[in-house]
Amino acid sequence: MKFFEPHESLKNFCETSRKYFFEGYQVIANEVNEWFGLSKLSPRDTILEFGGGEGFISIFLSKLTPAKFIYLDKNPYMAELARKNFEEAGIIDRVKIVVSEVEKAEFEKNSMDFIIARGTIQFTDYKKTLSNAVEWLKPGKVAFVGCGFGLNISDEYRAKVDEFIKKAEAKEVNTEPDKFEELIIEGYRHLMDNYFDDRLEYVKALNMKGFIFEIKKRLI
Ligand SMILES: C[S@@+](CC[C@H](N)C(=O)[O-])C[C@H]1O[C@@H](n2cnc3c(N)ncnc32)[C@H](O)[C@@H]1O
Repeated sequence: MKFFEPHESLKNFCETSRKYFFEGYQVIANEVNEWFGLSKLSPRDTILEFGGGEGFISIFLSKLTPAKFIYLDKNPYMAELARKNFEEAGIIDRVKIVVSEVEKAEFEKNSMDFIIARGTIQFTDYKKTLSNAVEWLKPGKVAFVGCGFGLNISDEYRAKVDEFIKKAEAKEVNTEPDKFEELIIEGYRHLMDNYFDDRLEYVKALNMKGFIFEIKKRLI
């Protein structure tokens, strides 16, 4: 894949993500497709990726599913980079680009067939973000939100991930690590307290070398 020159402010992030996350984006796309049957969606169905960064997860997913995409990111430079990537990948006609904070975005209730967000929720008001995801999902559909690099990763890639985790621990990259523990516990509690009885089928907290919430909305 061709990498476009990022805006100055995104250089560090892009360097890190292209070096350490890129393989993970593919693994995650393949795994969520397999687990949630995304290849069976139709061109009328919608996948939302929020905090989409360069848009690579959507690009890898677009090769596996005919669904259309909504890409959302609050950073207009990031959205511009993603737009170039979508054009390069030949999927710009299948993607609606929205520049907004996920907490303030206004999508229709019960409108999304799948929601994915990697590496973003810890930068947001996570309770509002989780509530939005529950509202936006169609009944019976799944949101996959958190961090992580894929469940079944190769030994070679695992070594690379470990290298990244060391850099993060040495605070060479900002991953908001302090937020994670709170987010896993309080985010889970928020979903349980507010939505479990009548809106959710289940919430799982997966460890994929980083936590992911898998949230399935109950069929009405
Ligand atoms: C660490 S990057 C992750 C990007 C991509 N998902 C990935 O896995 O490489 C976090 C992204 O979330 C975006 N972001 C941060 N806070 C956000 C918010 N409140 N609403 C929408 N996007 C946000 C940032 O602009 C950035 O593109």
